[in-house]
Amino acid sequence: MKKLLMIGAILLAPVFANAAGGPSVPLDHIKTDPTNQQSLQRGMQLYANYCLGCHSAQYQRYERAADDIGIPHDLLSEHLIFSDQKIGEQMTNAMDPDQAKAWFGAPPPDLTNEVNLRGADWVYTYLRSFYVDESRPYGVNNVVFPSVGMPNVLAELQGIQRKGCGQVAKLDDSGNTVVDPLTGKAMTAQSCDVLVVDQGTGSMSVEEFDQAAYDLTNFMAYMSKPYLQDSKSIGIKVIFFLLFMTLVFYFLYVEFWRDIKKKH
Ligand code: HEC
Repeated sequence: MKKLLMIGAILLAPVFANAAGGPSVPLDHIKTDPTNQQSLQRGMQLYANYCLGCHSAQYQRYERAADDIGIPHDLLSEHLIFSDQKIGEQMTNAMDPDQAKAWFGAPPPDLTNEVNLRGADWVYTYLRSFYVDESRPYGVNNVVFPSVGMPNVLAELQGIQRKGCGQVAKLDDSGNTVVDPLTGKAMTAQSCDVLVVDQGTGSMSVEEFDQAAYDLTNFMAYMSKPYLQDSKSIGIKVIFFLLFMTLVFYFLYVEFWRDIKKKH
């Protein structure tokens, strides 16, 4: 019994560790889609333009990404590689980690694995959660990553986002919206953590920016599991193979028993 309890405690340890380090704010939920090539192409374009200068993706080769998400090699070389790198190389940059630490307080981590590490919901919410905070070195803070060292590099698209007061959907302890039992409608509550964009300060509408953040996260999710599509199609082939072999073995079985029955 003691042993069982010990094993249980060891198995559960990561769950509690996660709970302790997890975000205290509710995350917006998205469903990444490795088959949506247009979204992945837009995501890669955003990544190359807005992120790669600081964040390498050193386990990802340009060429593999181009083939997986359907970008012709010449287009990718021309429009998405800004250094003198070749298409067969990894998506790295020339940032010196020590200098970066001096500039931002922390070096920008490599993001090839980020979605495995934090989850797609976290990344998606993070990218949309920068807000003006004059007390920070770059004038912005982030709701899901307080005191983050990263500037709001997508501000020209999103616009200037501030924290203000307003009505938000009321959530229960597990993060689900609370429904009024009388009216059947979702209940709201007053909150002063509402993020609002100053109108006309960004080149995108709120919906367009959400889509851009989704595309970026989708591309990062692809980088985290570049084999996902392959493993699905291999999985289907394996199942067909097994079904086929079942048929073969069934006929073999019938054949064997025919001989055995004859003898008796
Ligand atoms: C000017 C440099 C710079 C650019 C450009 C930049 N970042 Fe960052 N980013 C940082 C720094 C610095 C950190 C580390 C912050 C810290 O630890 O305080 C960071 C942190 C992050 C993290 C959190 C990493 C973690 O700890 O889990 C994510 C996710 C991220 N960036 C995504 C992006 C994406 C996506 C883009 C492109 C839209 C981008 N960043 C562009 C500098 C940058």
